[in-house]
Amino acid sequence: MIDFKVKLSQLLSENIQELNQEELLGMIELPPNPEMGDFAFPCFKLAKLFRKAPNMIAQELAEKLLLSEEFASVKNEGGYLNFYVDRGTYAKEIIKAVINQKDKYGSQELGLGKNICIDYSAPNVAKPFHVGHLRSTVIGNSLYRIYEFLGYNCIGINHLGDWGTQFGKVIVAYNNWGNKEEIEKEPIKTLLDLYVKFHDEAEAKPELEDEARSWFTRMENGDEEALALWQWFSSETIKELKKVYAQLDVEFDYYSGESFYNDKMDAIIQELKDKALLQESQGATLVDLTEFNMPPCLVQKKDGSTLYATRDITAAVYRKNTFDFHKCLYVTDYSQNLHFAQWFKVIELMQHEWAKDLIHIPFGRVSHEGRRIQTRKGNVVLLEEVLTGAVERVSEIIKEKNPELENKEEIAKEVGIGAVIFNDLSNNRIKDISFSWETAFSFEGETGPYVQYTHARASSVLRRAGVEVDDNFDAAVLTDDISMALIKEIYQFPEAILDAQRKNEPSIITRHIIDVAQAFNRFYHDHSILVEDEAVKKARLALVYATKQVLFTGLYLLGIKAPERM
Ligand code: ARG
Repeated sequence: MIDFKVKLSQLLSENIQELNQEELLGMIELPPNPEMGDFAFPCFKLAKLFRKAPNMIAQELAEKLLLSEEFASVKNEGGYLNFYVDRGTYAKEIIKAVINQKDKYGSQELGLGKNICIDYSAPNVAKPFHVGHLRSTVIGNSLYRIYEFLGYNCIGINHLGDWGTQFGKVIVAYNNWGNKEEIEKEPIKTLLDLYVKFHDEAEAKPELEDEARSWFTRMENGDEEALALWQWFSSETIKELKKVYAQLDVEFDYYSGESFYNDKMDAIIQELKDKALLQESQGATLVDLTEFNMPPCLVQKKDGSTLYATRDITAAVYRKNTFDFHKCLYVTDYSQNLHFAQWFKVIELMQHEWAKDLIHIPFGRVSHEGRRIQTRKGNVVLLEEVLTGAVERVSEIIKEKNPELENKEEIAKEVGIGAVIFNDLSNNRIKDISFSWETAFSFEGETGPYVQYTHARASSVLRRAGVEVDDNFDAAVLTDDISMALIKEIYQFPEAILDAQRKNEPSIITRHIIDVAQAFNRFYHDHSILVEDEAVKKARLALVYATKQVLFTGLYLLGIKAPERM
């Protein structure tokens, strides 16, 4: 495909010797409004170099530039040069590229030979798998797909919270009030109930806390009875988690939880000692970070037990040695910012040059209808409830609106779960979001179902046309404003993917495909597609095909299915 932006930078560089083509390329903007051209070049930066006012520079350049055939005209406006593409060439090139590349359109080989570790989801056994974990799962999964689409090799790791004092509590609760069958049937819910029950009971009977602590110590000392229970709780939980992930269409390459590092921490503590980084403080061992304006990073407690950070440091070293990652990404909510900043610093102090490749990807907290989500007591929306609820809601709507639909159940699943994922990826990840049933499942406005519906609409047009789309079409048919606006969105799709990867921000893709869907619906309302005139029909079908492909790929990169009918 001719890259219009690159072409333009060539043209500019023939006329502006002071900057190289790369720099010029970086300056080209995409105006938000078609009246300001298809591409714009701001001359403000040149003012210093040329010692001239930007509008003067723009005017002179506009007069002197000799346009290549890809461009129809150029106008100067204030300090800007506005370029207008040759619409026929533009339409032809872009749609042809999508038709020929199909589901590769927008992909790249940028990351060839580079490994990216992505640490996401990571719920805690015997604690709730709540909508915050859902957010990590969904963001991590989307990043996985985006990086992979750009040629990187991704390694998805579920750093399960499968070690810690909660196990002592759950063991006490299980011994007192537990039931084997119930755990086997619904492990996540039952273990959580036991955990909550423990806290309720311990309020009146604080001695339960001591009992719990001693069970955890037994686990840490390798006690068989304690470890057998821990092992069983974890494996039942993972079994059920896998079902939830299957519903979400999410996979992990490794389930190496925190306990995986139990036998690997001594070596790291020794390394820290050898590098003279450890200090004693009230019996505990820590790395002092005063110099970096951070509280110390605790490595070992008084009783010798290790901490969350100790396991993260150990896991990072293990991952570097095992996968030689180019980057290692950690997706958690921003309340863990300090935790990551601290132990990233420790890795740096250990003089691992790859400390710079550890990247924390924080996201905003999720509240439930305005209330904070708590771990120990109620007000917890369990992930499964959300997903099942979503699918039920969509089933109702289908039953009401489209009872004849084939494959109803499958489609209700794809749309219901798609709605939840899309909702999570709609805003900048750092923003706090309030999870509410209303907004998550709204079928109007900027939602997953809206984009999926647009995709299904395009699919239906193509089905009804009953002809194969190919790149032999008359692009002159597609040069009107409304078709052009849609083609422009398709042209900008690959750039949106790249931007999403650079910023680790899937919402850039979410927003882009909303724009594509809106531009398509305008096109669909304004133009008849299956018309008598073969040339018109063929060209418009080609554009419908390209749109469908972009929506499909966009949804795929978010981790959402695109049903053909709905
Ligand atoms: N289990 C942790 C939690 O629920 C998240 C773990 C994130 N990953 C990591 N390597 N620290 O908050």
